[in-house]
Amino acid sequence: MAMIGSDIDFAKEVLLKGDLVAVPTETVYGLAGNALDPAAAAKIFQVKERPSFDPLIVHVPSFDHVSKYADEIPKQAHLLAEKFWPGPLTILFKKKSFVPDLVTSGLDTVGLRCPDHPLTRRLLEVLPFPLAAPSANPFGYVSPTTAQHVAEQLGEKIPYILDGGACPVGLESTIVGFENERPVIYRFGGLSLEKIESVIGKVDVQAFSTSNPKAPGQLKSHYAPRKKVIIGDIAALRQSYPIDRVALLTFQKNYNTKFQYILSPEGSLEQAAQHLFTALRELDKLPIDCILTEFVADVGLGRAINDRLRRAAAN
Ligand code: TXA
Ligand code: MG
Repeated sequence: MAMIGSDIDFAKEVLLKGDLVAVPTETVYGLAGNALDPAAAAKIFQVKERPSFDPLIVHVPSFDHVSKYADEIPKQAHLLAEKFWPGPLTILFKKKSFVPDLVTSGLDTVGLRCPDHPLTRRLLEVLPFPLAAPSANPFGYVSPTTAQHVAEQLGEKIPYILDGGACPVGLESTIVGFENERPVIYRFGGLSLEKIESVIGKVDVQAFSTSNPKAPGQLKSHYAPRKKVIIGDIAALRQSYPIDRVALLTFQKNYNTKFQYILSPEGSLEQAAQHLFTALRELDKLPIDCILTEFVADVGLGRAINDRLRRAAAN
């Protein structure tokens, strides 16, 4: 069973040996290994049971490190990093050839991100290599936002979990890339479209769920609990189910029923985002047949919340 603690020196030792450590970030916990070591990357795919066509994000301590791994740095990428790093934003760059193909699934781009969590930033600063880290969940399941979530699912398979508390953002990073120098969002996440556009102007969006993804993070059923999730008008939907066989996942409304999780009693999208994956995990453990839920407003972090709900329901 994995040890859980906040010992950065020990985490470093494990990583230097080529082993994996689960690390906290502001978005979700990552399953981290040496990004420049194909054997460590192979372990990540193996532990997650992740198909090798789904590339890993590489975590760096600051923007200064980007030029080591990226061949070109678009001006807009620089502007975004300056404004939002450390933070919930992954940027796709043309990669230098020594970045292992296994990490990028053979693509000629690499996703780089500087995470905003004090423990993991300190760890990145003392390591001689960047960290490849996908979310620390088995492939296809909901991402973990606490060290306990990681322990429940991967505890048997990894030596150490660096415990940095509950992730404050709660949703994975937003992914931005460039096509012919035009910025494109490939995945909605913890940094809103509005904030990105406030810095670089109009951005294309290709972050739609599809069963034939261009970026594998666009796979439809990618964040799914095991219970069936149905999205719609909760008040109407619940009439069709026996009351003790369903759980309600609401944005703000209290139905005063036994199995319910209110994402944000005060109606904040940030708070709802922070609680979403914990809510799905907790409801998934109840003795019920399905989870009834509703979309939130399609603005700010609402876009990412709705995207994850759609994927959770897509099974
Ligand atoms: O917030 C996050 O991004 C978390 C934390 C740990 O940093 N990480 C995360 O990783 O969500 P993961 O592996 O669950 O999702 C990574 C996704 C891939 O599925 C893929 O869609 C996209 O990032 N990606 C990574 N590198 C890419 C590349 N070179 N081209 C296109 N998409 C890429
Ligand atoms: Mg993931």
